Amino acid sequence: MTRNDPQSHVGRRNFFKSGSAFGAAFGAQAVAGNAMASPQQSPGRPLISQFRKLGAGNYGMEVSALGLGCMGMNYHRGIHPSREATIKLIRQAVERGVTLFDTAETYGPFVNEELVGEALAPLRGQVKISTKFGFNHEGGRATGLNSRPERIRRVADESLKRLRTDVIDLFYQHRLDPNVPIEVVAGTVKDLIGEGKVRRFGLCEVGAETIRRAHAVQPVTAVQSEYHLMWREPEDKVLPVCEELGIGFVPYSPVNRGFLGGDLNEYTRFDSGNDNRNILPRFTPEAMRANLAIVEVLNRFGRPRGATSAQVAMAWLLAKKPWIVPIPGTTKLAHLDENLRTVDFVLNASEVREIEEGVSKIAIVGDRYPASEQQRISR
Ligand SMILES: NC(=O)c1ccc[n+]([C@@H]2O[C@H](COP(=O)([O-])OP(=O)(O)OC[C@H]3O[C@@H](n4cnc5c(N)ncnc54)[C@H](OP(=O)(O)O)[C@@H]3O)[C@@H](O)[C@H]2O)c1
Repeated sequence: MTRNDPQSHVGRRNFFKSGSAFGAAFGAQAVAGNAMASPQQSPGRPLISQFRKLGAGNYGMEVSALGLGCMGMNYHRGIHPSREATIKLIRQAVERGVTLFDTAETYGPFVNEELVGEALAPLRGQVKISTKFGFNHEGGRATGLNSRPERIRRVADESLKRLRTDVIDLFYQHRLDPNVPIEVVAGTVKDLIGEGKVRRFGLCEVGAETIRRAHAVQPVTAVQSEYHLMWREPEDKVLPVCEELGIGFVPYSPVNRGFLGGDLNEYTRFDSGNDNRNILPRFTPEAMRANLAIVEVLNRFGRPRGATSAQVAMAWLLAKKPWIVPIPGTTKLAHLDENLRTVDFVLNASEVREIEEGVSKIAIVGDRYPASEQQRISR
């Protein structure tokens, strides 16, 4: 792992003139194991100025090498900060160089988009916003899948209002709808792009064949799926098809919903009424007790190198491909800074192997999703 201590924000932007060129070089070096040039960082302020490119051609999008997942700021991650504190944190992320912010209609529902919209409205020109369609909502909760064209159009119009913007940079289908052929979904987003309401198309948790079919109708900019050291399934078929078609990949839950950060253990309780970890098999006390051995592997690797387990987990993701952009979520400035500092650590190929070998020796306890949620995931 090479500590990459860059210069000040502005200095670094000039130093790496082309973000995408840098992104490619960064990934290549991560794999080749070469050290980046190491100019001195100005004291006290962790910043990110490495860029990566998701997608290709007219539908490519250059973003900071790590984005910010905003879901947990009000939804599914327990007790959350006030609206004011959240808006401040999102703006602090922009100050630190984050240019990709991920939300969805269903996070709340609606509330998360409103928070992101309010926080980013004065900074809109500096950032890209991704949001998602694909559910019906009633009485303040999701009531089922719906990717019918009229529903997608309605979500686009309502999301634009909540996000206080006139265009959605990246519009993902959140989950495949078995009742609507993916070609129809892709065609609807293509029309929205033609109308100027949406810029790019994305898919979440889909299989390789679905990606191909969708991409043939409307080029896909990014696939967003769970991917981290405890869930590597995308490596089998999804990452290869993304590479072949020039599609970016956005790993969600890159620190496995906090677990790889090392703050959770068998005594942690997810009982706030706003935390889906209380139904995830990997977050039972028994599973967490067993799976902490993985965090120990990351700590054993990271400590001599000055990196935390969360940073090792995300440095591993960044090293896998230059077109991977993780979107860790947090409600804390300290974690935001820690997470962004991940880009200061570049893993070489043998370090990637060392981490993988260490983790592979541990039998992971618990499925990632309960059966009801796993059903929604297209393979
Ligand atoms: N497309 C989809 O279906 C889908 C599904 C799930 C998520 N997502 C997206 O992915 C984003 C991130 O996913 P996620 O929230 O599930 O998982 P995550 O980013 O892996 O984990 C977030 C959790 O980890 C904690 N955390 C963050 N940084 C940490 C650090 N350095 N050390 C220790 N703990 C840390 C956070 O707590 P603190 O607040 O205390 O930092 C939070 O509870 C979401 O915001 C959402 O945008 C998409």
